[in-house]
Amino acid sequence: MATLNWIGKDAVVNHDKEVPFKLFKKVKGASVGEHSKNLIVHGDNLEALKALMPHYVGKVKCIYIDPPYNTGNEGWVYNDKVNSPKIKQWLGKVVGKESEDLTRHDKWLCMMYPRLKLLRDLLTDDGFIFISVDENEHCNLRGAMDEIFLEENHVTTVTWQRKKESSNDSRNITVKAEYIVVYARSKIAQLNLLSLSEAYIETAYKPPTKEFPNGKWRPVPIATTKGHKSGGYTYEIVTPSGKKHKREWAYPEESYKRLLSEGKIYFGMKGDGVPQRVIYAHESTGIPASNIWTDVATNKEGKNEIINLFDGGIFETPKPVGLIKRILELASQKDSLILDSFAGSGTTAQAVLDLNKEDGGSRKFILVEMEDKVARDITAERVKRAIKKYDYNDGFEYCELDKPLFNEDGQIEETCDFKQFATYIYFTETQTNIDPKKISGNYIGEYGDTEYYLLYKGKNKNELDKATLKTIGDSDKKKIVYADRCLLDDDTLAAHNIVFKQIPYEVKVY
Ligand SMILES: C[S@@+](CC[C@H](N)C(=O)[O-])C[C@H]1O[C@@H](n2cnc3c(N)ncnc32)[C@H](O)[C@@H]1O
Repeated sequence: MATLNWIGKDAVVNHDKEVPFKLFKKVKGASVGEHSKNLIVHGDNLEALKALMPHYVGKVKCIYIDPPYNTGNEGWVYNDKVNSPKIKQWLGKVVGKESEDLTRHDKWLCMMYPRLKLLRDLLTDDGFIFISVDENEHCNLRGAMDEIFLEENHVTTVTWQRKKESSNDSRNITVKAEYIVVYARSKIAQLNLLSLSEAYIETAYKPPTKEFPNGKWRPVPIATTKGHKSGGYTYEIVTPSGKKHKREWAYPEESYKRLLSEGKIYFGMKGDGVPQRVIYAHESTGIPASNIWTDVATNKEGKNEIINLFDGGIFETPKPVGLIKRILELASQKDSLILDSFAGSGTTAQAVLDLNKEDGGSRKFILVEMEDKVARDITAERVKRAIKKYDYNDGFEYCELDKPLFNEDGQIEETCDFKQFATYIYFTETQTNIDPKKISGNYIGEYGDTEYYLLYKGKNKNELDKATLKTIGDSDKKKIVYADRCLLDDDTLAAHNIVFKQIPYEVKVY
């Protein structure tokens, strides 16, 4: 694999580790309903993804993102607080056009790289990420993704027809398509089949005939090439007109005979061709998606969907609901968690709610949007209006990003409560999410053969001493105990199998 290099790469490859952990602050007035488990977060997604980590690491089944394409017309600004003199010169300045800004691709890669790393860690092992992009950054995105997700997990790049109509905006070739880059989190991930559309059945299936009267049908080859993985059964088949075909077939002879007796073998129009299996449309479990999508909604529909909800085009670049529903059909189960960290007008939330309504699913969404003027008034408002207009039976919680867990002096933020801190400690120790139901007193959970405890009643009030020792369990397991101070001697700690860790200095950073 060729290595992709760019200005600032050294400074950003581990920037995800330096991003401070922030807490969430729920905004009741901007939320809809309670306990929906859907989330809209207002904030920069670098900080928001990091803040999501203690709650959602390894839990997201499908990510769709639609980041700035870097066209030179979006007015996006690189603003990450990376400690590099080169990068500091870029801050606060709008990224320019191709001919004006020689570091525009470097900036885009510096912005995307740490976010893609966090997104990877949020995915389940069988999860997928779909990333919208156009020709401006497609190649750079592939290079970065091959490093972060690994080349072997690249699934495909889908070409999506974003508009049908021709326009006069190109000197040479009119661009009517853009791309969706697809990666799996690991080798075990498997996309769903797509159910057959009426249009597909119309073109790919034959009408019923006297020989095959049970509905629309199509012949599927059963002859295989030598050595093909699904082949390997060699025997002779004689057609009704007496012609012999001896070669390798996909099925053993008994299976072939069963299909023949069920009237599901086709010998071609003249009755002497190489036999094929007949599949009726109503028996099909679906078809794999192709990597050319001309059969889903276009940007025009996306714009109309916004106009229908707001009586006007209040957002420039909404994707159509149908496009994201196609992604969800392929990459989610009915109870999956879906994440979109460049939420814009919130199309992903509507697609989740719409698909749930259609198939009785209970998928949940997390959306992140940075812009002050967009997050509440467009993203959340669109989802709120869609719930009402289309009678979706769900709500969402709207959150702001709050203060960092640790202040600039490295001390714990005073407003941080026990549960928030426990969630963070448990996550950094185990890289898994806490089960809040298991928290009991100072006990915050166990992982493998270690129990975890947190003594935290507020700043400087947390001592591991003879009194608090009584609150630590007496199992034989190793116990990691976080507190401000330890007044027990080493023998006592060893006798109780306790490892003491001092707050805040020994709190790990993710
Ligand atoms: C192309 S739009 C996404 C459109 C969206 N797919 C839709 O259908 O409406 C990109 C969005 O990402 C947001 N954005 C850009 N950088 C961000 C960041 N660092 N954190 C969170 N949101 C960001 C922008 O404000 C913009 O609303």
